[in-house]
Amino acid sequence: MTRYLQCMGEDKCKIKPAEFFDIAALQGFYGLESSGLTGKKDFVRKYWEDIAIKLIVRGSIEKLLTKRDNIRVVDLGCGSGEGFELLTHIPISQPLSSGKQCFILSPDQISYTGVDISGSMVQQGRKNYENHKNVRFEQADLNKGFPLMNEQPFDIYFSSYSSLSHLTPYKLQMLVEEILSHGEPGAIIVFDLIGKYSLEWPKYWNENRTMLPYNMAYLTPPELRDKEPIQWYDVCFWTPAMLIQTLDAASKKMETCIQAVQSADRSIFLGRHMETGLFGAPRLNYRYQVNHLFDHEHREEIEHLLINLDWCAELEKVQPEVWTRLCDYKDKWNCIIRLIEALLHGNDSMVSSLIETTPQDISSELKFLTWLYRNAHRFPAVDFWASIMGPQIAVILRNIELSIGPALGCGHGLLCVVEITE
Ligand SMILES: C[S@@+](CC[C@H](N)C(=O)[O-])C[C@H]1O[C@@H](n2cnc3c(N)ncnc32)[C@H](O)[C@@H]1O
Repeated sequence: MTRYLQCMGEDKCKIKPAEFFDIAALQGFYGLESSGLTGKKDFVRKYWEDIAIKLIVRGSIEKLLTKRDNIRVVDLGCGSGEGFELLTHIPISQPLSSGKQCFILSPDQISYTGVDISGSMVQQGRKNYENHKNVRFEQADLNKGFPLMNEQPFDIYFSSYSSLSHLTPYKLQMLVEEILSHGEPGAIIVFDLIGKYSLEWPKYWNENRTMLPYNMAYLTPPELRDKEPIQWYDVCFWTPAMLIQTLDAASKKMETCIQAVQSADRSIFLGRHMETGLFGAPRLNYRYQVNHLFDHEHREEIEHLLINLDWCAELEKVQPEVWTRLCDYKDKWNCIIRLIEALLHGNDSMVSSLIETTPQDISSELKFLTWLYRNAHRFPAVDFWASIMGPQIAVILRNIELSIGPALGCGHGLLCVVEITE
């Protein structure tokens, strides 16, 4: 069977998400794949997107751990159990402290239930975690509400990588209402929805409809993408205002207080569809370049990392606040890339000028990178550029994204952590 997701019907065929994800699981996309330059679990997913999710939930989980040692988690739209991996690999807050502990939650500290509509995903999850007694999977359709109402409350009602974007706002509100009646004060709900104002889909910025066609054609290698028909299905594109409205309505109806702990835009320039150009944007390969930065064995062409937003300047009129955020991040990002270019070309006056004219937060990153580059000979690495400089640049670009918030819906993912307060 081909490993690529093809559509057997007409050019632009529509499919039910459950069928699509059944095929994806059967074709091997949800096994325990390791990271790489391309594919579902590329370096950007592991070292950028997963980290964004881990860091946004870390404080809340540390708070839960002050009250109990074991945490009950339900993963909504769990796929084959990616949430279990994520939650058991959250780095501790004090990495320099002594001791063996690397992660805030160990696998035996969590009791994990994954829920998914796709039978094949559930089967794959059971196979992936057959040796874990505290991990189980249930098949259920979240459009019908929260399926585990008769069970003990959970501490974390988790979701990742757009699972809940498969629900309409109305169905998500119903689901949240049931979660609010099920969960106890202190429990958290984690949303990772598709952001409406991502640069991946400028054609949707002006759309009034909430459910719009989407696909995962990025899983197909670029050379086959144009040849194979694409499978489309509808998902909800979210703004923070829509999410707040949905949560407010649910909490009023259930007479339960909730509080948004944190929100963030995940993958602003690196969304998977930046490379496909299937939603009205040109094909831009920033993700490919950043994957090379993270790779300890490859080098990238730094000039290809300069972000250019000229192609979408008219979006300023559509969403001025979002546009300002995008330009701010672009300026900071490009400052880092220009410094690296200046260092590589031995252009010391440009290095000094960038450091002196940049605001404090970025200037300290520039000083650090300059120090690192000029002290390369002190590091006993075989290929200093590939194994130290490149990954460090990627981490700084990522940390700038993590530091700008709250969310405006301008990343591929709209992350939000909500706590039930009473
Ligand atoms: C993009 S995948 C994300 C999977 C996983 N959470 C991860 O982090 O990789 C979306 C998942 O949502 C599931 N899903 C879609 N609609 C659903 C529904 N109505 N009820 C339950 N699961 C659903 C799909 O089967 C799929 O496994």
